[in-house]
Amino acid sequence: MKIAVIGPGAVGCLLAFFLAEAGEDVHLVDYRPERAAFLQEQGIRLQTPGGESRTVPVSCRLPGEAEPADLAVMAVKAHQTAAAAQSLPLLLASGGVGLSLQNGLGNLEAMARVLGPERLLAGITYLGVTRQAAGQIIYAGKGEVLIGAPPGSLVTAAATEEVAALFRRAGFTCRSVPDIENLLWDKLMINAGINPLTALLRVPNGALPELPEAWSLAAAAAAEVQAVAKARGLDVSGDPGERLLRVCTATARNRSSMLQDILAGRPTEIGSLNAQVAERGAAMGVATPVNDLLTSLVRALEASAALRVE
Ligand code: PAF
Repeated sequence: MKIAVIGPGAVGCLLAFFLAEAGEDVHLVDYRPERAAFLQEQGIRLQTPGGESRTVPVSCRLPGEAEPADLAVMAVKAHQTAAAAQSLPLLLASGGVGLSLQNGLGNLEAMARVLGPERLLAGITYLGVTRQAAGQIIYAGKGEVLIGAPPGSLVTAAATEEVAALFRRAGFTCRSVPDIENLLWDKLMINAGINPLTALLRVPNGALPELPEAWSLAAAAAAEVQAVAKARGLDVSGDPGERLLRVCTATARNRSSMLQDILAGRPTEIGSLNAQVAERGAAMGVATPVNDLLTSLVRALEASAALRVE
C-alpha cells in the first residue's frame, strides 16, 4: 500500500517515522519546499523521554511531486485542513482513501467537500508526541489509535481493517472500530478538557490533575462535551473526570498539542475543539459555559502574544 502522510507536525512525523522504519512505502507531504528538502535530507529523529534517540530516513515530497497513494493520512492542524484537502485529488490514486487522524471536529467535513464522504476514514489517537524542531520529535506516551468509517463513508470494514493492520505492523496499538463517531466525540471530550488548560497554564498533561481549580474546570468542560454528544444521540459514556485522569496519567510528560502551539506562537486548534462544542451545544440548546469561557481565554491568549511583557 502506498501511503502519503500530509503534514510534518508531531503526529505526521511520528506516523512517517514508524511506517518508514517498518519498511512501508510511505512519504511525508509538506507544502514548504525548503522544509521538505531539509526533511528529505535529514530524515526524522525520534527521541524517548529516557534520552534514547534514533533517526530514520523518510521520503518527503511537495504535494505535486508525490506519487498517487492508496491512503492519504491528514495530519495537519485543524485550521489547515481545508487548504491541505485541496491536494487530495492529486495525492490519491483513484479509489484511494483519505484518513483524518486529527483532533476536533470539522476536519472530515473539509475533506468531504473535496473528496466526497464515500472515501473517508476517521481515526483518533492518544499518542503523546511533541515536536521539538522540524523533523525532531519526542515520543512520550504510547496510546491507542482507533480507525473507522464515519457516517457517509463507503469504505468497507475489511478495507478499514487493512489500514488498522498497516498501523499495527508499524508498531502502533491500533484497532478498526464500528462506532468512530462516538469515539471522535469521546476524544473531543478529552481534548476539550486537557488542551486549553494545559495551554493557558503552560503545564504538561501530568500536572493538570495536581491543580484542583484547573482540574475541576477541565472536568466541567469534558462533562459539557458529554452533554452535547448525548443531545446529538451519541454515546460518550464514562465518568469525564476518570477518562481525563487516565489520559493525563498515560501522557503525563507530554505537552498537549495546544500548549505546543502556544509555545511556538502558532494558532491553536481551539476553533475545532472547545469552540465547536460551544457552537454545536448552542444548536442543540445545551449550555456550555465552561467551553465558552475556555474558547475566549485561549483566543485572548493567542491574540495577546505580541503584547505580553516578559
Ligand atoms: O492534543 C493532544 O495533545 C493529545 O490529543 C492528547 C491525547 C491530549 C495528549 O496530549
